[in-house]
Amino acid sequence: MWEAGMQSIDSCEWFEGEFELPGDKSITHRAIMFNGGAEGEAIIKNALMGEDCLSTCSCMRALGAKIEIDGTTLRVKGTPHFRRGTELNCGNSGTTIRLLSGFVAGKGVDAKLYGDESLSSRPMGRIAEPLSELGAKIQTTDGHAPVYVAPALLQGADVELNIASAQVKSAILLAGISAGGETSVTEPVKSRDHTERMLAAMGADVHVVGNRVTVKKSCLHSVDVDVPSDISSAAYFMALGALKGRTLCKNVGMNVTRTGILKAFDQLGVRYSLLNRRVSGGEETADVLVEKSDMRSIILTAEDAPSMIDELPLVALLCAFAEGESRIVGVKELRVKESDRIRTTAELIRNIGGDCEELEDGFVIRGKKQLVGGNVDSYLDHRIAMTAAVGLLASKNGGNILRPDCCAISFPDFFEKLGIRS
Ligand code: S3P
Repeated sequence: MWEAGMQSIDSCEWFEGEFELPGDKSITHRAIMFNGGAEGEAIIKNALMGEDCLSTCSCMRALGAKIEIDGTTLRVKGTPHFRRGTELNCGNSGTTIRLLSGFVAGKGVDAKLYGDESLSSRPMGRIAEPLSELGAKIQTTDGHAPVYVAPALLQGADVELNIASAQVKSAILLAGISAGGETSVTEPVKSRDHTERMLAAMGADVHVVGNRVTVKKSCLHSVDVDVPSDISSAAYFMALGALKGRTLCKNVGMNVTRTGILKAFDQLGVRYSLLNRRVSGGEETADVLVEKSDMRSIILTAEDAPSMIDELPLVALLCAFAEGESRIVGVKELRVKESDRIRTTAELIRNIGGDCEELEDGFVIRGKKQLVGGNVDSYLDHRIAMTAAVGLLASKNGGNILRPDCCAISFPDFFEKLGIRS
């Protein structure tokens, strides 16, 4: 679909503005999916209508939910009893395939879940193995998609994960609400907690202690969701404020399992303030004001990664503009995202004139005052394309992004918001 094409980006002297960013991708996926499998009808406002969330919509429709879309407002009529024998096309979306595999596992149906080339290269054993511990009948294709799920009676289990992954945790919890007894998941570091929050809001029996979440068999009842703006999308505009001027991002989700980029900003010496803090739809939000800052090098380790996992390519880019040598380590998970983000981020930084050394589990980045610009391939990874746009705007000469349209995965009007396309 978005294979070809090129976006040229001129460098800019000053970048300033006030921005309303699209709805949070993780929350939108969950609001559609969980309401799609719940008793009742829900309205979802400020939903992200990026391609990943549209994949979740089409899968839930295939399973029997009714979804009406009016701009960014969705009306979802759920069905606790899924249709049998469905083929679920999850497109590019890891969240869709992993969460849904768990959700359908105890629903007495059979389903085939598959996706595009990138999704088919990503690891699925990480969900198949723990789901099997609950008695799920789930098969991967050599550890990858397509994933096949058959009807099974599930029994709760106590699962200890060796990676911090909200997708894996959520798959287990979603199977756990159909399983007899109790199901617990413990993570080494707490990952984003939108699943546990939303399941609790929908009437599920959920208990959280530290990094351990426990669920019992539960029926879900529809809940309206007002989706905050996605900090992962706002991050590009926040970074442009720090590099090139002054930006105000409105109504940004401030869930603490997602705000790691602010900790990176603290270390980098980025000047920002959180204004107008409030709670909207059960999630904290704020307007984030970021101003041009002189940045210094940072050190990030595995502990820091989960709360900024999708922002790490951008944080690495900021390090390329910061004074001194930065180290980001313990982030091997980046190798199994929409692209191998250790490789593609290092290449991005080098192609625009920066100094980035690839480690097995991270990067060493030696900052420079000025990066010259150049050509960057997105490798069809939306986060790489958007990070490249920030890097080129902040560079001396600008350059080109090859295969830029994958931004539509999480931020369909990204270039328009930047003022680059009309
Ligand atoms: C997500 C979890 C993260 C993140 C992804 C969205 C989610 O993946 O990278 O973009 O919505 O649960 P992992 O769970 O694989 O770390």
